[in-house]
Formats: sequence, C-alpha cells, structure tokens
Amino acid sequence: MVGVTETWQVEPSGPLRGDIGVRGSKNAVTKHMVAAMLGDGPSTIRNAPEVGDVDITAAMLEAVGFAVSRDGGEITIAPNGKLESRVPAAFTGLNRIPILMLGPLLHRTGEAFVPLVGGDPIGRRPVDFHVSALRALGAEVEAGPDGITARATRLHGARIDLPYPSVGATETVLLSAVRAEGKTVVRNAATEPEVVELALFLQRMGAHIELSPDRRIVIEGVPRLRGASRWLAGDRLEAFSYLAAGLITRGEVRVHGCPQDRLVTAITTLAKMGAQIDITDEWITASAPSGLRPAAVSTDTHPGFMTDWQQPLMVLFTQAEGMSVLHETVFENRLVYVPALQKMGCEIETFAACLGGEACRFHDTNAVHSAVIRGVSKLVGADVTLPDVRAGFSAVLAAAVADRPSVLRGIHHIERGYHRPFDQFGSLGLTIHRG
Ligand code: EPU
Repeated sequence: MVGVTETWQVEPSGPLRGDIGVRGSKNAVTKHMVAAMLGDGPSTIRNAPEVGDVDITAAMLEAVGFAVSRDGGEITIAPNGKLESRVPAAFTGLNRIPILMLGPLLHRTGEAFVPLVGGDPIGRRPVDFHVSALRALGAEVEAGPDGITARATRLHGARIDLPYPSVGATETVLLSAVRAEGKTVVRNAATEPEVVELALFLQRMGAHIELSPDRRIVIEGVPRLRGASRWLAGDRLEAFSYLAAGLITRGEVRVHGCPQDRLVTAITTLAKMGAQIDITDEWITASAPSGLRPAAVSTDTHPGFMTDWQQPLMVLFTQAEGMSVLHETVFENRLVYVPALQKMGCEIETFAACLGGEACRFHDTNAVHSAVIRGVSKLVGADVTLPDVRAGFSAVLAAAVADRPSVLRGIHHIERGYHRPFDQFGSLGLTIHRG
C-alpha cells in the first residue's frame, strides 16, 4: 500500500487508447476473505485485485489468527490454530469490513469485538441494519464509542426485513445465517452482483442458500462449512471507469474480463449518449467519434445505474454537448467530491432537490444529492486533494483533458480500490509522475 502523502502529477495526455484487463472487485474480494473465516479448511480466491483494501483485510484476518498467503491474483486463507475474538483497534476507520466479521467471529469464538468502521465520507453510513440483523439472529450486541461487541453461544435463524436493500447488511445476514441453527429469511435484500458472488462462494463452502424472487433470500443454517475456491468475475465499476476514460479523452479503451450482464444499465446509458459500443464474449469497447449527447441519470440499487459509476459519468457529462442531470439516491453525501472537479473547471451546480427523476428518500432532507452539469466544460489543471476512492479516479480523468498538468494528492484512496492504476493508466497513454 502506498503512503497517504503520495501525489501524482498528471499531464494532459490526448486520447487514451488500448486494452485493459479488469480483475475481481474490491467489494467482492474482501467479502470472500471474510467468508473464508467460516470454513474448516483453506479457501482460495482467484483473480483477486492488488488493492489496498485487500492488504487491510488480510492484516485483520491475520490479527485474529488466520494464515493468509498471496501469490499474484491468488489469495489463500486458512485457519491457523487458536483464534482471537477481537479485531485490534489499530484497524479503526480503515474500511467497512470489520462489521462483516462479527458473524464469522461469533461462530468461531462465541464473542467478538470489531472497531468502528470507516470507508469513504459519502454519507452517514450507519450500521444499524447490521446490528438489528445480528440481534434478530440471537446475538447480544453492544455498540460502544470504540466499536461493537457481540456475544452468542449459537446464532439461530430469524426473519429479517431490511428497511433498504443494503449491500453490507445483506452480507452480514449471509455471513451470520449460514452457520446459524435453523432457517433465516431476509426480505428486501440487496441483489448486487457482488452479493450474489458471495452467496455462490458460501454455497461452494457447503451453505444452503436460495436466491428467491422479490429480493428474498432464504438460508438454512448448517453446522459446518468447508474451504472452497472461486475465481472472481471482473469488476463492473472498474470496467465502466476505463470505458469512460476512453470516451472522455476522445479515445477508445477496450475492457477485457467483465461480463456484459454486469454492465447492462451502464452500457445503455453510454449508448443513449451517442457512444458506439462493441461487445464480444471477451471484451467491451466504447468510442464517440461524433461527440456525446447529455443525459439525465439517477443512481439506484442493482440493476439500476450503480452509485459507484456516477463519478466517472460526471466527468463524462462535462465533455458532452449540453446540460446533463445526475440524481444520487443511494448515499446522501456522495457528491462530496464535486468541489475538487469544480476546481478543475467542471461546470457543475449541486442541489438538495431530487432532479431528473422520481423523488428519492433524501427528498425532505438537506442532503445535496443532485447535480446539473454543463458541457462542454473547458477543464483546467489544478492542485486537488482526493476525498475518496471513486472521486479520486474521476479527478484523474478530468486531469487527462485539462489544459495543463494537475497535482492530485491522496493517491492512496485510488490504490485502495483499483488494481495497479498507475500502470493501467500508463499503458493507455496517460503521462503520470509520482510525487
Ligand atoms: N444503510 C443504513 N444502515 C445500515 C446500512 C446501510 O442506513 O446499517 C444505508 C446507507 O447509509 C446507504 C444505503 O443504506 O444510504 C446503502 O448502503 P449499503 O449498505 O448498500 O452500502 P455499503 O455496503 O456500505 C457497498 C460498497 C459501496 C457501494 C455500496 C452500494 C463495500 C465495501 N462498499 O457499501 O462501495 O457504493 O455498497 O452498492 O462493499 C466503493 O467501493 O467506493 C463503495 C462506496
């Protein structure tokens, strides 16, 4: 992992062109690593990305007593003698993974402590759904100032209705209910491909899971799980980000390794904006020889337009001819990165109203969650500090089409979630210098 002080100097670099292979996503690999805690034998995750969040998660697993070995894109996790029930406080605020470790630690040791979770500053990001789900499954859970403590001699099945189809809370239920006693039914569950991938991995470990219609998942607990092996599908958000990189710079990036069915809404959005899309069984490419039209997009849960696609889309909107509208409905503060783009000349105005779509659950709040974007904005090089992982990537895209070099600070955010971004951008023709 790079240091938090690392900067990149990015030069305007003309059209980005070439081939990019995407590996599994940070949001799938880290959950598979937690699932591996439940197996009696070693588990192997293949096609794993080399990202900072894997380093953090591996260190947490080692801290509670698992052996973690890594060889390129392969991560093997094995039980390694006596387990600790506490994730050390040193991991406070580093990512969102500790909360998911509660269920597996309870199964293993009967008690658990995890420090406060972090992640990007994109909203309040409470963990109340996770805590309520664990309580419903029979755990005693106490939220303290430093983290969460839980106890349970044995979890038991329950009916859980999630107030919102939360990815993380659905994963907490999966990771806790697979070895609970009896049946768990979770309603209003998330159906993101990364959640389904986790369910498939757990099934390989011996879990009994049914993915039913209408966001319903049924889990019959089993007493033991074995280790398993799984190859991760390519990251849909990294794939979209590189397709956007090609379009923003009037080039063309051919993305390999991400199945089309993970990108349906993204591809249609780009096509409606006038991009020419070519899709084969191996790769997807997008180009816009005659420029792009504006659009109105609302983010949503799967299969809608994913919230992690909106940051590269925002930069793309600044390069389309006319006014576009973006409505963020998943995280109330996800537009936190807009000031950095405005500093780079992006003509973006933000609003607390729901623009360009139906009213969302932030309707009657002060959350600034809609944006109107004027294209074509003339972008300028600037010195900016990156607030989060996805925003960081879009600042690189803006810098690529600015009038002069930019200095981007806080590169660790990008390296936390994208596989070797310095090398990947370099291979497409972007001129970057590490500071
Ligand atoms: N929510 C609650 N209470 C909870 C849990 C969630 O109110 O206990 C709310 C959140 O505040 C948010 C909404 O429910 O408004 C959705 O949150 P969700 O739980 O689905 O998100 P998450 O699990 O925290 C994961 C990804 C995000 C991705 C979202 C949505 C990981 C580590 N993070 O977050 O990825 O945007 O799902 O798909 O898997 C990223 O990679 O940059 C990133 C932020």
